[in-house]
Amino acid sequence: MKKAPSATADSFTLTDNRTGRSWELPIIDGSEGPSVMDVRKFYADTQMFTYDPGFTSTGSCESKLTFIDGEKGVLLHRGYKIEDLAEHSDFMEVCSLLLYGELPDAKQKAAFEKAITYHTMLHEQLNYLYRGFRRDAHPMAIMVGVVGALSAFYHDSTDITDPRQRMIASHRLIAKMPTIAAMAYKFSLGQPFVYPRNDLSYAENFLYMTFSVPCEEYEINPVLARAMDRIFILHADHEQNASTSTVRIAGSSGANPFACIAAGIASLWGPAHGGANEAVLQMLQEIGHKDRIPEFLERAKDRDDPFRLMGFGHRVYKNYDPRAAVLRESCHAVLGELGVEHDPLLELAIELERIALEDDYFAEKKLFPNVDFYSGIILKAMGFPTSMFTVLFAVARTVGWVAQWKEMIEDPSQKISRPRQLYTGATQRNYLPMDQRG
Ligand code: SDX
Repeated sequence: MKKAPSATADSFTLTDNRTGRSWELPIIDGSEGPSVMDVRKFYADTQMFTYDPGFTSTGSCESKLTFIDGEKGVLLHRGYKIEDLAEHSDFMEVCSLLLYGELPDAKQKAAFEKAITYHTMLHEQLNYLYRGFRRDAHPMAIMVGVVGALSAFYHDSTDITDPRQRMIASHRLIAKMPTIAAMAYKFSLGQPFVYPRNDLSYAENFLYMTFSVPCEEYEINPVLARAMDRIFILHADHEQNASTSTVRIAGSSGANPFACIAAGIASLWGPAHGGANEAVLQMLQEIGHKDRIPEFLERAKDRDDPFRLMGFGHRVYKNYDPRAAVLRESCHAVLGELGVEHDPLLELAIELERIALEDDYFAEKKLFPNVDFYSGIILKAMGFPTSMFTVLFAVARTVGWVAQWKEMIEDPSQKISRPRQLYTGATQRNYLPMDQRG
């Protein structure tokens, strides 16, 4: 990478123009992407903090898991392109790749898949926890509660200093998330919980636990199972996004992995993050007809209007999100299989994308469809209510959260995350007795 003009070999020279003092800040190069300027000693040397609300220019950690090139629209997991993994791999293989660093051979993959399969059941006592929620509770509220409660049931995998317990907790979380999610859906319907089956794949099992009923046989549709598996792959991990950073910060205090993942679920819920897939469907339903698209685009461009075009824009991608491109293709396959090729919502979404991508505002600000733009259309066609969309994102992202948490715990330089601030509040003042106030 070309060094900045002021940088000497492998360092930046920073000068305080008020005092003329200079400091050398080391530059560290990664294997891909931007180098970093090492500011770990910046406060000790300068008595100043760096300032970066929202961390737009801040690298919070070193990681080997996922690389994103936002300008080129590239996403790699352990060096493998997301398009190749979506095309040729399956979610269990991607989970093993993220956790252990290499594509597993047949024996390793079978062993990993068995380890996950035999952790899919939930402690029976947890069933009663669901009954404490209202039937119309948002399923993400249930996910946060039940996943956090796992730390009250699996005490034998909460010692984060024990590699074996870390592995078991990782497997339990990946394995139990589909069960917990399916139970949240069943609870909302008043239908009985469906136990997982060990003869089904991860995606098949999830569809079975979600949509089968005890009164009749449930036939797995292989096209839908493949689409579900691909959706899980596409949502598995994504560098240091808001929910992953939440998990890392929670884990940096030594909190147990179940509590950390519950924190990640809470962060993902926000409409600016994982909650966007649910918000995209609500937006498309509100737009209703392509004739109203210009009205909504004008609102999205109005700085005084809080409306954002949901499913568009991204902190990192300033090009088409590669995951959205794969999902757009999957839309046609799934809707075709379900005989709804002419889904009005999909047609509206495609028209909205076409018009937005031709609009100067979106082109200038490099706003493209992101992973959430098409996922909701597929999930709705598969029979999921919009309230379950972010739940599915959380099921898939659990492997990313767990892999990032594990990488942080195993990083010898890891310490508790404790940012500082720019203080602009009241300077020190004397306490005022009541009769001197007002
Ligand atoms: C995910 O981080 C990740 O990797 C997340 C994720 C993952 O896999 O973990 O990829 C998943 O969260 C995808 C994003 C889903 N969210 C949405 O679709 C919600 C709609 N998008 C926006 O809220 C927004 O684009 C964000 C939150 C995604 C990104 O916000 P940034 O990077 O902080 O950018 P910004 O808000 O500063 O926007 C830059 C400009 C602003 O205009 P100006 O103030 O410069 O004039 O672009 C405008 C924004 O107003 N803008 C939009 C817009 N997104 C940004 N204008 C209209 N519609 C939008 N969607």
